[in-house]
Amino acid sequence: MKEKLQNQRVDYQKGALSIDQVYKDPLQQFQDWYEQFELSKPKDPNAFVLATAGNDDIPHARVLLLKGVDQGGFEFYTNYESAKGQELAENPQASMCFFWSEQERQVRVEGKVVKLRPEESTAYFHSRPHGSQVGAWVSPQSQEIADRKVLEDRAQHYADKYAEEVPRPPHWGGYRLMPNRIEFWQGRSSRLHDRILYTLQADGSWQLSRLAP
Ligand SMILES: Cc1cc2nc3c(=O)[nH]c(=O)nc-3n(C[C@H](O)[C@H](O)[C@H](O)COP(=O)(O)O)c2cc1C
Repeated sequence: MKEKLQNQRVDYQKGALSIDQVYKDPLQQFQDWYEQFELSKPKDPNAFVLATAGNDDIPHARVLLLKGVDQGGFEFYTNYESAKGQELAENPQASMCFFWSEQERQVRVEGKVVKLRPEESTAYFHSRPHGSQVGAWVSPQSQEIADRKVLEDRAQHYADKYAEEVPRPPHWGGYRLMPNRIEFWQGRSSRLHDRILYTLQADGSWQLSRLAP
């Protein structure tokens, strides 16, 4: 395996990036790249990695689905009592990383995470399929469970209890990461990649700079 990994190489040639080409607003740049990525029909176009670190100071990373870019931030949904929920309660600073292989691109976003308003979470919750709504009640996300039967029993219990309307569990909802740093990476030939960094200024404007690859 090691030899295979060491010989695995791609020379990136699909695009280029410069400060005078990109949008002045990084969210607009994100939307532009996201729309291009979507056109290549990936299976989970909105998947990204979220890294959080709570009081243990250890970064914990996992894949989530992006559910909106709105009001200046990046939205996702989860269980507030999960490991990530607890880490975010201890330390709201988090990082997101998107890898868009088809276009040879990466986007890294850093900032502070805030909870969505309960009405926002409820509105999205009720837009989900019935099974996913019940699932939010079933799983005590990140907790140790004895076996799969625990889940099956809970699934039966909540499917019976909420056969019609499913209320949003108070422990389930959305977060919005408000960015203060966003980096766009475009793979280039011979590892001389383009990296454009947007840094949020005190007056709310974005400063653009180029980073070495
Ligand atoms: C493609 C994919 C999408 C996922 N989307 C979500 C999501 O939107 N929300 C979520 O809570 N977990 C999602 N998960 C599961 C998380 O990766 C993770 O296992 C779970 O949230 C528990 O993480 P935690 O223990 O660090 O809190 C997804 C996993 C994959 C592979």
